[in-house]
Amino acid sequence: IGDKIIFLPIIGSTNDFLKENFDKFPSGTVVVAEVQTKGRGRNNRTWVSPEGGLWFSILFKPKKKVKPTFFTKAACVAINKALNQIGVENKIKWPNDIYVKAKKLCGILTETIFEGQHPKVIICGIGINVNNQIPEELSDKAVSLSQITGRPHDLKKLLKLLLTKINYIVKKYSTKPEALTRVWKERLMQKEGDEIRFLLDGKFVNGKILEIEDEFIVVEVDGKSLKLFSLDVIVT
Ligand code: BTN
Repeated sequence: IGDKIIFLPIIGSTNDFLKENFDKFPSGTVVVAEVQTKGRGRNNRTWVSPEGGLWFSILFKPKKKVKPTFFTKAACVAINKALNQIGVENKIKWPNDIYVKAKKLCGILTETIFEGQHPKVIICGIGINVNNQIPEELSDKAVSLSQITGRPHDLKKLLKLLLTKINYIVKKYSTKPEALTRVWKERLMQKEGDEIRFLLDGKFVNGKILEIEDEFIVVEVDGKSLKLFSLDVIVT
């Protein structure tokens, strides 16, 4: 990973760039943008991507059968470890956000191009608020690395650290993905059995987490189990 790194001053979205150009680049190619004008998050949300943040995508063209969520979990665990290493205590919020205390520092958007049933191209997009300003309207939900540490960070150095870690985790667990799932689960903010308060159809309700999977979570509310594909919890 990262043998080839493409730096772009400005682009719509690094994920879209790789979606359109994957056939020109080898597996492991990384695309970094200083600014994204159409940064995207999960569930069709926009991802605010001004100068100062770390916005990048990694191209994977797996030779063996692998689930796209493997790369999401690998990125989560790698980023979680890298941040710990630089003294920033953080947790993974299911399924693939990195939180510091109650605020989001980093989000991951993994997208897949299938060939029949087989994932032919997997694009793992990572957005980290580093030195960028957090817009006022997001300031109660999001945080930047420089706000946490009280100093600016070198984006290239941080990228290098993250790529080294992601590379290591992907290699280490490629033959034992279940072990990666265990590590990812251990590092999640919420665990199976936890009582949580979360947003359901616009209202906060209390529930208990019964089961955590890669793509869904099962929560018990009023004696009924619900399968959810995203989770807006009150983070405490
Ligand atoms: C989320 O939390 O919803 C995921 C956010 C992912 C943002 C990154 S920034 C680099 C890459 N390009 C995009 O358009 N999105 C991802």
